[in-house]
Amino acid sequence: MPGVTGPSEYSQEPPRHRSLKINAKEPFNAEPPRSALVASYITPVDMFYKRNHGPIPIVDDIEKYCVSINGLVEHPKELSMADIRKLPKYTVTATLQCAGNRRTAMSKTRTVKGVGWDVAALGNATWGGAKLSDVLELVGIPKHTEITSSGGKHVEFISVDMCKEEKGGPYKASIPLSQATNPAADVLLAYEMNGEILNRDHGYPLRGIVPGVIGARSVKWLDSVSVVVEQCQGFFMQLDYKMFPPSVNWDNIIWSTRRACMDFPVQCAICSLEDVSVVKDRKVTISGYAVSGGGRGIERVDISVDGGKTWMEAFRYQKSGVPYVAEDVDSDKWAWVLFKAEVDSASNVQPENVEGIWNLRGILNTSWHRVQIQSSPQVAHSNL
Ligand code: MTE
Repeated sequence: MPGVTGPSEYSQEPPRHRSLKINAKEPFNAEPPRSALVASYITPVDMFYKRNHGPIPIVDDIEKYCVSINGLVEHPKELSMADIRKLPKYTVTATLQCAGNRRTAMSKTRTVKGVGWDVAALGNATWGGAKLSDVLELVGIPKHTEITSSGGKHVEFISVDMCKEEKGGPYKASIPLSQATNPAADVLLAYEMNGEILNRDHGYPLRGIVPGVIGARSVKWLDSVSVVVEQCQGFFMQLDYKMFPPSVNWDNIIWSTRRACMDFPVQCAICSLEDVSVVKDRKVTISGYAVSGGGRGIERVDISVDGGKTWMEAFRYQKSGVPYVAEDVDSDKWAWVLFKAEVDSASNVQPENVEGIWNLRGILNTSWHRVQIQSSPQVAHSNL
């Protein structure tokens, strides 16, 4: 690809913020401290997690850079950044989450394979760029196309980075053509993040953003976008990022029996406290994020300070101080909600029933008190 190259070693990596927690150095994988996530609805670029599978590509001449739109299309094109910028620009606020978010905690139950992540392998950004549905229209594919006359059903994004898992080849992934050509799916070829030109770590000069879908499908440093018959056959679509039941292990795994993960399920984590925190005051503020893939909102976030026996509802917001309403026109459907609740660390709430607090001396039964009420039988009076 003219203008951008994928190096084979790590001598030209970009500078990064010192407070990122490095989970793997080469390729560079890092996340911010969890408290940074709840500091603002929009995650600053330098505090945004970085998930890479190879050295960061280098743009040597942006004027020469072109993304190739090809495959089963009538009019293949090479689009420069100027061509992409000529298309209508959209901004979409979307949470990008790595499928491996919170992997470290899963390993505590039974060891799993992969880069260890705490709860911050995600971030919420405003992405700016052209809609993929507009780009595909330029090469002759109308909006809302499920299959082209030549059988094209998927859109494959191919990068320029050199990944070990691809035997030194580029990172790639695909999404269904129906999603790519649906303007409401908000799939972008993005060149901006939080109003700034994308930085190298996040895909400069151009990346895919597939809102509501695991981060692995939002391919960075795009070389080409291809309309193809089959789902992408690359490592990260076929031999990784698939969900198996606990009975499957590394000896009996058959990758082809599961489909590639796309929309991510509902996720929620506390960011205002560490796993072990000493609290001085009885009143503790609990805050964190909740997000669902597929553009599904968050109806409620409930908090328990007694191991799940009783729950209280947390305040949810996207815009500071404004209650969040799922599916409201003003809510960002692809983005997380932050939540906040003040709780009494002394667990000063009444449990619903006796089971959880039963003790042999029968003390401190503070469970909900119930009395039975019966209506008195109707008495018929008669003077006869
Ligand atoms: N694109 C390329 N070219 N190379 C990669 O290693 N990693 C993917 C995706 N796109 C990756 C990629 C994964 S697994 C995730 S979670 C997101 O990018 C991370 O994006 P970020 O580093 O901008 O946070």
